[in-house]
Amino acid sequence: MTPLSADAPTTTDAARALFLELTGREPDGLWSAPGRVNLIGEHTDYNDGFVLPFAIPHRTVAAVDLRDDDRGRVRVASTFAAEPVEVALDELDDLFPTATGAEPAVPEWAAYPLGVAWALRQALAATDSDRGFRGIDIAIASDVPVGAGLSSSAAIEGAAASALNDLWDAGLDRRALARIGRRAENEAVGAPTGIMDQMASMLGEPDAAIFLDCRSLETQLVPLGMADAGLAILVIDTRVTHAHSTGGYRERRASCELGAQIMGVPSLRDVSVDDLPRAQELMDGVTFRRVRHVVTENQRVIDTVRVLRDAGARAIGDLLVASHASMRDDFEISVPELDTAVDTALAAGAVGARMTGGGFGGAAIALIEQDAVAAVSDAVTAAFAAADFTEPIVFTVTPSAGARRDA
Ligand code: GLA
Repeated sequence: MTPLSADAPTTTDAARALFLELTGREPDGLWSAPGRVNLIGEHTDYNDGFVLPFAIPHRTVAAVDLRDDDRGRVRVASTFAAEPVEVALDELDDLFPTATGAEPAVPEWAAYPLGVAWALRQALAATDSDRGFRGIDIAIASDVPVGAGLSSSAAIEGAAASALNDLWDAGLDRRALARIGRRAENEAVGAPTGIMDQMASMLGEPDAAIFLDCRSLETQLVPLGMADAGLAILVIDTRVTHAHSTGGYRERRASCELGAQIMGVPSLRDVSVDDLPRAQELMDGVTFRRVRHVVTENQRVIDTVRVLRDAGARAIGDLLVASHASMRDDFEISVPELDTAVDTALAAGAVGARMTGGGFGGAAIALIEQDAVAAVSDAVTAAFAAADFTEPIVFTVTPSAGARRDA
């Protein structure tokens, strides 16, 4: 076996050890996929809009092999769970889809890899109904913080999809695998999310953000030049956990759909900033504010890409701050911990800061001078203590590589 991934030795070792424990043998290979941070473009993906995420160094590793017994069963184990889950591949069609908002028929952690196996199998069977599928064993370990808005779920989906794609000779490209991951999330886990996280996890590149058009799925890599500019990105995990299969996320999505319907367009992507006065006349105040967030956020993503290219990362601070204000005031998905993180980072000299991900908890990011990491981290930690919030977890991230086979 080739040497283990240098950037995640512990996670890789854990996945391999778990596989050994599960099966008594070495895996055929190790596949990994990262979590993500979204630089800007929140709640725009399911509105067919624009996003600008990047993959982070934290990864999920899947140790995987085909099963010799060929009984067509899939077994998954995770370092997060005491017991593995085993089902027949044929049973997957009975388990999924999970109705939106309902509990999956298997423990939620297992619905991610099993959902990927289900969605991939369905995609392949659609083009070749006689295709056979060998049983498979999967052991998962991860260092992507769970519930922090850093897409630990997309990381599991990306690692599992990459492994199954190789072992089942599926031949799907990264975009198709991102769609498989999203289908697992929407229809096996029952979370009505967009495609940003899976695309970021599949397509990440070092020192670049991915400018993604969520309608066409076209992407452009936008170099960030963070190190050269002497900048760093700080993640402030508020430790207020969130789940997108529940309440608020779904409600926001429904408001966006209502807004598009009132405007007579397929999605809010088709509404521009110039259309907002007309939108305000046509809809109730709350729906209008939801719409205004999405429409202005799409514009901010486009502006951020332009500014990054013309002037570099130090010039995007105001756009990040405006994005946070829009999420706090118009979309109403921030929480006091996220606002404290953003306000304190800015007061301590951050170039820009905003909450990242779906909201209602999770993490904020701050774009800061490299030599301000300690000062900003200390200021945020002190502000949380003063407000009697749970101590945040603060760390830097560098834009990193997407899903890959490690060994
Ligand atoms: C979550 C979802 C994404 C996206 C973001 C908000 O991370 O998984 O699809 O909607 O929230 O931008």
